[in-house]
Amino acid sequence: MGSIRVSGRMIYFFGALGGVLFGYDTGVISGALLFIPNDFKLTPFLQGAIVAGLLLGAMIGAALAGRLSDRLGRRRLIIIAAVVFTGGALLAALAPTVWVLIAARVIIGLAVGSAALVVPLYLSEIAPTEVRGAITSLNQLMIVCGILAAFIVNAILASSGDWRLMLGLAAVPSMVLLVGMLFMPETPRYLVHAGEEKTAHAVLEELPGDEQPEERIEEIREVDSEEEGETGLAALWRAKWVRPALLVATGLAVFQQLVGINTIIYYAPTTLTNVGFAKTSAIYANLIIGVINVGMTVIAIKIIDRVGRKPMLFAGVAGMVASLLVLGISLSALPTPHHPGDPAAIITLVCLATFIAAFAATWGPVVWVMIPEVLPLSVRGTAMGVAVFGNWAANFAVSQTFPPLLKALGPGTVFLGYAALGLLAGVFVKAFVTETKGHSLEEIEGDLQRRTGRRGERDRVPRHAAASR
Ligand code: BGC
Repeated sequence: MGSIRVSGRMIYFFGALGGVLFGYDTGVISGALLFIPNDFKLTPFLQGAIVAGLLLGAMIGAALAGRLSDRLGRRRLIIIAAVVFTGGALLAALAPTVWVLIAARVIIGLAVGSAALVVPLYLSEIAPTEVRGAITSLNQLMIVCGILAAFIVNAILASSGDWRLMLGLAAVPSMVLLVGMLFMPETPRYLVHAGEEKTAHAVLEELPGDEQPEERIEEIREVDSEEEGETGLAALWRAKWVRPALLVATGLAVFQQLVGINTIIYYAPTTLTNVGFAKTSAIYANLIIGVINVGMTVIAIKIIDRVGRKPMLFAGVAGMVASLLVLGISLSALPTPHHPGDPAAIITLVCLATFIAAFAATWGPVVWVMIPEVLPLSVRGTAMGVAVFGNWAANFAVSQTFPPLLKALGPGTVFLGYAALGLLAGVFVKAFVTETKGHSLEEIEGDLQRRTGRRGERDRVPRHAAASR
C-alpha cells in the first residue's frame, strides 16, 4: 500500500501521468504504420485493424473501467491500467506476427480507455475546488504532451524505420506511472464512499487547499448518503435523477469527437500531402500542430478556473467552426492545390492550426474536466463509463469514416459537415450545460439533487464563489 506522505504536486503529476498513455498511442501509430509493412505484409484491412484495434479496445476499457473504479477504487484501477498498458506495449514491440500486433493494440486500448476514464476522475476528486479545473486539465496536458512526444519520436526514428522501438517506448511512461502510483493515495471522495473515513481524513490533511477535513468529509457523507449505494449499469438506469447529468457528460464527450478533432490529429500529414506538401514538410508541419496543441492547453489551464467552463466551450465552438468554414469553403471553391505555395494549401495549413488552437484551449481540456464534475459520487465511475465509451465510439465512427467520406464527397464538403456538427455542439452547450466553476463537487451534486426533486431546500449556502449560470 502507498504512503500518503507525498506532496500535492507529486499527487497531481502522477495522477495525471496516465494521460500520456492515451496521447502517445494516439500520436505514434501514423508514424509506425509507414514502416510496419517492412516486416509484415499489410492489406488495407490489416492496416485498418491495427489502427481500429486500439479504439475498439478503448471502448471496451472505458465500459469496464467505470464499474471497476467504483468497486476497486480510482487509484487501484490506474495501477491496473499501467500494468496492462506496459504488457501491451512490450507485446506490440516484440510482435512476431501481424495478428499478435493487432491483439497487442486491443490490449493497449483496454488500458487507454480505462486511463481516459479514471485519470480525470482521480484528479477531479483529489483537487481543491478553487483549482479543480486546472488540476483536472493536467490530464489533457499529459495527453497532448504524449501526442507531441510521439510526433517527435516518429520524426527521429523515420530514418531508421524502427517501428518496434516507436511502439515499445510507450512502456517507459507506463512503468514510471506504475511505480509512482504505488505511493499515491486514494481520493478522499472514494474513501468516504467506501466507508474508510479515517484514511480519508488523513489524505485530506495532506492535500493542499483543504483546511477543514472534517467539514469536507461531512459534506461528502451527506451527498453520498442520499443515494442507494448500488453501482453498475442497472442501478444507473434506475437512478432517473442522474439522467440530466448523464446527458451532459455523454453529450460533451460525443460532441468533442464529432467536431472532427481526430481527422486532424490522425490524418494531418495525409491532408497536407494531398494539398501539395512533400512528405518531410508534412511531418514537420505536424510537429508544429503538436506544439500548438501543447501551448494552447497550457493557456487553458491558466484560465479555466477564472473564465469558467461554459464561456470556454462557446469560444471553442466559435473558433473551430470558423476554421472549418474557411477550410471547407476554400477547398470547395479554389482550384486543387499541387504545391505548398498554392492559396488552398496555405489556407489549409492555417486553418488546421487555428482549429487545433481553438480545440486545445477549450474543448480538449474542458470536456475531460466537466465529465467527472457533473456526475454524482455514488455512480460517478459507472456513469463516466457511459460517457467515455461514447467518446471512443464517436472517435471510432469519425476516424473510420473520414477516408471514405473524403473519397466520396471531397474535402470541402466533409469539413463543412464538421462545421455543422460544431454548431450543433454549441446548441447542445446552450441548452443543457450548467457552469461548474467555483463549486465543490458536493455543491454541484446537491444542485442536481434539488433540480431533480431528490432533495429539499435544507441545503447549505455554497461556500465558494457563486459562478455564472
Ligand atoms: C481527445 C482526443 C484527441 C486529443 C487531441 C483529447 O481531448 O479526447 O480524442 O486526440 O484531445 O489533443
